[in-house]
Amino acid sequence: MTGNELRKAFLDFFESKGHLILPSASLVPKDDPTLLWINAGMAPLKPYFDGRAVPPKRRISTAQKCIRTNDIENVGRTARHHTFFEMLGNFSFGDYFKEDAIKWAWEFVTEVLEMPEERLWVTIHPEDEEAFKIWHEQVGLSAEKILRDEENFWEIGTGTGPCGPCTEIHYDRGPEFGCGKPDCGVLCDCDRYLEVWNLVFTQYNQTEDGKYLPLPQKNIDTGMGLERVASILQGVNSNYETDLVKPVIDKVYEMTGIDYNKDEQVRTAYRVIADHIRAITFAVSDGAMPSNEGRGYVIRRILRRAVRWGRILGITEPFLYKLVPVVVNMMEEGYPELKEREEHVVRIVQTEEERFQETLDQGLHILSQMMAEQKKAGSNEITGEQAFKLYDTYGFPLDLTQDIAQEEGFTVDVDGFKAAMEEQRERARAAREEYGFGDAAAEVYKKIREEKGIPEFSGYSSLEEETEVIALVKDGRLVDSLSAGEEGQVVLKKTPFYAESGGQVGDTGRLEGEGITVTVTNTRKLAEVNFSEVLVEDGNLRVGMKVKAVVEEVLRKDTARNHSATHILHKALKEILGDHVNQAGSLVEPTRLRFDFTHYQALTDDELKAIEEKVNEEIRKNHPIETTVTTLEKAKEMGAIALFDEKYGSDVRVVSIGDYSMELCGGTHLKASGEIGLFKIVSETGIAAGTRRIEALTGRHALDYVTRRETILKEAAEIVKAKPDELVERLERLVVEIKEKDKEIDALKQKLAGSQVDEILNQVKEINGVKFLGARVEGIDASALRNMGDELKQRLGSGVIVLASDMKGKVLFVAMVTDDLTKRFHAGKIIGEVARITGGGGGGRPNMAQAGGKNPAKISEALKKAEEIVMQG
Ligand code: ALA
Repeated sequence: MTGNELRKAFLDFFESKGHLILPSASLVPKDDPTLLWINAGMAPLKPYFDGRAVPPKRRISTAQKCIRTNDIENVGRTARHHTFFEMLGNFSFGDYFKEDAIKWAWEFVTEVLEMPEERLWVTIHPEDEEAFKIWHEQVGLSAEKILRDEENFWEIGTGTGPCGPCTEIHYDRGPEFGCGKPDCGVLCDCDRYLEVWNLVFTQYNQTEDGKYLPLPQKNIDTGMGLERVASILQGVNSNYETDLVKPVIDKVYEMTGIDYNKDEQVRTAYRVIADHIRAITFAVSDGAMPSNEGRGYVIRRILRRAVRWGRILGITEPFLYKLVPVVVNMMEEGYPELKEREEHVVRIVQTEEERFQETLDQGLHILSQMMAEQKKAGSNEITGEQAFKLYDTYGFPLDLTQDIAQEEGFTVDVDGFKAAMEEQRERARAAREEYGFGDAAAEVYKKIREEKGIPEFSGYSSLEEETEVIALVKDGRLVDSLSAGEEGQVVLKKTPFYAESGGQVGDTGRLEGEGITVTVTNTRKLAEVNFSEVLVEDGNLRVGMKVKAVVEEVLRKDTARNHSATHILHKALKEILGDHVNQAGSLVEPTRLRFDFTHYQALTDDELKAIEEKVNEEIRKNHPIETTVTTLEKAKEMGAIALFDEKYGSDVRVVSIGDYSMELCGGTHLKASGEIGLFKIVSETGIAAGTRRIEALTGRHALDYVTRRETILKEAAEIVKAKPDELVERLERLVVEIKEKDKEIDALKQKLAGSQVDEILNQVKEINGVKFLGARVEGIDASALRNMGDELKQRLGSGVIVLASDMKGKVLFVAMVTDDLTKRFHAGKIIGEVARITGGGGGGRPNMAQAGGKNPAKISEALKKAEEIVMQG
């Protein structure tokens, strides 16, 4: 049975038992901050287990893509570990329970998969008498084949969520696969007994404080590892040899020609690569991107691990991206979404690989130097500092350094590495503290929040507020007042000042009150408390004082133009470049906007133009801009663009620009898109693999930019005496003219050389019946000098020619001897002696030779020498 057939057989079987078949959920969890990846069939269904949501049917069955990274070091080294795998599962939400779950599982394994009963064993939770009874009395399994094991209690691994006791079905592959230990049995870790299927009786919910509360209903959650069962059915030794992985290994073999079974290391390399590229292909296809944190870092890490193991097989060029289509072909039957994103995945993988191959070359070199150093010092340990340097500077994850070190018989000081890492964190913390964003500052603001509450923000609708100073902070400490000349931070009871967040800069403005003048230079937020940074210009600002807070309107408006434009840009990018475009960061200031997004190549001029035009078109439509506050679920239902980090269940603010754009956003916006006025892109650059950046201007700043460009155009036009509209044509004509002039100059030069030839011919001397021509010319380069020599040779018919060109500071020589005289005179020898006089040298053939010299003042002496040589010959 092929892997694809097995998957289908499973789903068909449970469909026949009344289950609804759902497609696999994305590997990237939705609305679940407790999980980095979907790691089990039940993970995307959690809300149905704990009652947060109602399932579309109470019986569901899936083949679910899963990623688990807790055991990554073992992946490739064993026959069964994977980062990516598929889990087949059937689920009941308050519908059937233990009896049906067990009976159907047995029916499927023995009747559909036709596994021989004598090879099957089961384990149960020690206290689960009910499960024992079902296995023993209803299924008919003998008591000694039902083992009791404490481990048979399943929880998701994050310490919270649905869980319960379980029962497992194991398959005995036969004694030849056993470890031979006297106590080897079903519970042994060796490769003889394989766990095939885990049936969880999900009846508890583990809470954050470690309590197990009964769930409102009793559920079933089962999980069968597809690759593992395929390996049994296909009679192969490891999951890697099944048709769900093997094609990738075959493709790598095509590239390297190294036998998969050559030795343990080679086998590991093949497996690591095959496993990791499956994980990468699925994860990137589900929207994850390589980066330095969270999920992105997992992708980066496993990609790097695969590249590194590629080197063991002698592959030093990017190659993983060539495996993506193999994975897609192999798996698209079960996961049609792969085909759609194939090109995107290939590009992301290739870019990331290229970048890493470069750093790897450098890093490997450094690491081998480190090992040599250590060896010299009599140690076979890489220090923590060294490992950290590799991590920090060359992007070597610790496990990579360990892998390489291990091969060379080295160990790595892991504690030292952790200490170095901690030290760096400490430095970063100190830096944050200095900037007023550290833990101490956060403490102060937490205290303010506890004592005075969270200040009200009124700045969405008004730019002025009659309010009261409720706290003052200076150098991280609460103070009662700030006097003239002092800088500090002020917390207002109600504030119209927007605090820096979501890429939008904080508001500036002023505080007015009796006898005071205070400038607000920025506004930020800590521990949910909005505070403004101020400089007291005049008077004494005190806690409790009534003040009028005034936002700098012009700047706020400029910022809003850029913020609203950013939303339109985001949508336009998706429309024009594709749905893979997602916001990766943004900066919204009064003077400009910067928008970072996922895309794998530089934008063409045509694309940029189309984007700019589209944004301006939507500006001109003068869409009304409206905000509503709703729940995240509702917002998503309405189709709002949301970033990954929104919290499930919390209220969100939705900003919509007509029917064109809808995004979750806390920023301040215009009332209508027309107020943006004008949108101009000023640059497009790459900032990381798969991430591009657009910088753009709006409103008066865009106009300024255009005006500046126009001025440059006018000035340039004036210089060439044209109207701006005619500038291009005029410049084109000028370029043609210059070309023509160049040609003319060349022709004149030739003519000049020609006339010099005539003049030089006048200097021919007859020496002992041989025509000798020794002449000096001015500023003629080597090739022209040779041409001139050829011409003279022809005109002379028979003779010896020596030309010296004065090149202002150096001398070029050419010597020629007509063929009839080469028995008597050797051009190469002549030139050697001649050039020496001017401090140079050279040589050549009997009929033609070239040389250089240093001192033009000696040219006539040199030519004299030539004449002498001919005289003697
Ligand atoms: N959720 C169970 C597991 O992952 C079935 O093994």
